[in-house]
Amino acid sequence: MTNKKRVTFGSRLGVILATVGCAVGLGNIWRFPYMLGVNGGAAFLLVYAICIVVLGLPVMITEFFIGRHSRKNAAGAFKVLAPGTKWIVIGYNGVLAAFLILGFYFVVAGWTLEYILQVVTGSLTGKTAVEFASDFTRFSSGIFRPIFWTVVFTALTHIVIVPGVKKGIERASKILMPVLFFILIVLCIRSATLPNAGAGLSFLFNPDFSKIDSSVILSGMGQAFFSLSVGMGCLITYSSYFGKETHLQKTAVQVTILDSLVAILAGIMIFPAVFSFGIEPTVGPELVFITLPNVFSQMPLGTLWSLIFYVLLALAALTSTISLHEVATAYVHEEYQMTRSRAALVVSAGVLVFATLSSLSLGVLKDYTIFGLTFFDFLDYVTTKIMLPFGGMLICIFVGTQIDRKILKAELTNQGTVPFYFFNTYAFFIKYIAPVAISIVFLNELGLIEWIRRMF
Ligand code: PFF
Repeated sequence: MTNKKRVTFGSRLGVILATVGCAVGLGNIWRFPYMLGVNGGAAFLLVYAICIVVLGLPVMITEFFIGRHSRKNAAGAFKVLAPGTKWIVIGYNGVLAAFLILGFYFVVAGWTLEYILQVVTGSLTGKTAVEFASDFTRFSSGIFRPIFWTVVFTALTHIVIVPGVKKGIERASKILMPVLFFILIVLCIRSATLPNAGAGLSFLFNPDFSKIDSSVILSGMGQAFFSLSVGMGCLITYSSYFGKETHLQKTAVQVTILDSLVAILAGIMIFPAVFSFGIEPTVGPELVFITLPNVFSQMPLGTLWSLIFYVLLALAALTSTISLHEVATAYVHEEYQMTRSRAALVVSAGVLVFATLSSLSLGVLKDYTIFGLTFFDFLDYVTTKIMLPFGGMLICIFVGTQIDRKILKAELTNQGTVPFYFFNTYAFFIKYIAPVAISIVFLNELGLIEWIRRMF
């Protein structure tokens, strides 16, 4: 089943960094704090953390199995492992999810470029907290500027994607990740030493259990999947480039720890400042963009720090957009026998249409809603709260029921050369616990569980 010619990542570190690069992105630094703010603070953190460990990690290991064993893209993998069956739907779900996620991700990634420009031109300094907020709203609800930056970000991703995996993804991630950690820690220290920082830390770490309801649980689960990039075959595509000596379980644990660490650091960086500057934690997607300029304005050499930060945020976003784009491009390239550059062009052009609409939905198109959500929020909701958990559930059921345990174990232990101590627990988990748990969260959100309770 191995395809010898398939390109692989160059080194062990390259494997980890590229995969961390895929996982760490706007989901950790932009979406995690905003979701936590909207969903009641520490209670959300708790749900998220549980979902990371009991669902995210096992699904990640399972995706690694599928990817390396089949050595194919997210859809092609199912054609190899279960030819002629309906399981291919997992792959289509993933490719579609990648496409739709890019539809809002490119917009937010574009905002980071606007902020880089504002830092460079000096227009991000000398404002009050209220001005930072109103300027952001004016910018993000505008027409030309946000779309311009969305196009620029799409073009940047496109340029990296075309030459292929090894040169682009691996090289970029190797430099970026360590620097990102460093700057996050510096910003955490600044934020946590602001006046009234304690209130922010308590919001982040001191759970109010009464806040946990079905929607917080669904949001926490969605965030866990989104942040780890699981449920949509992205990690199937990436692990198809892993070498045969890559320790799959260890890689999954390392990626999960690093990804969660970045999210928590982002929380420590944001919430003390939110409370210190009197910003509402529930404001939504703009939270990070209106909070951080206040933090920078309180720092010596604030302009320099902010420049480094926004450049890194843009680059962290880039390593994730590359991975999302790769899912769609690898699919079109391999399944439709198109050249890689033409496949990438098809994906970029298609995504741009969605991204333009979702950017406009924050301004001129905000009254056109789907199920009460703007187009931007709709893309976010459908992908993170439905498609990724649903994909993750199917991935678990597929491997749990269709793959011979011996084959599964052989791949996950590199043909018996590395141990997998909890293999039976893991196998039980993906076959029964994860699918049931995900279904319960869905049913709960749909109100079915409450309905049944009232019936009896
Ligand atoms: N995990 C990325 C982030 O946190 O920004 C987003 C993402 C990338 C989701 C790749 C899904 C994916 F396949």
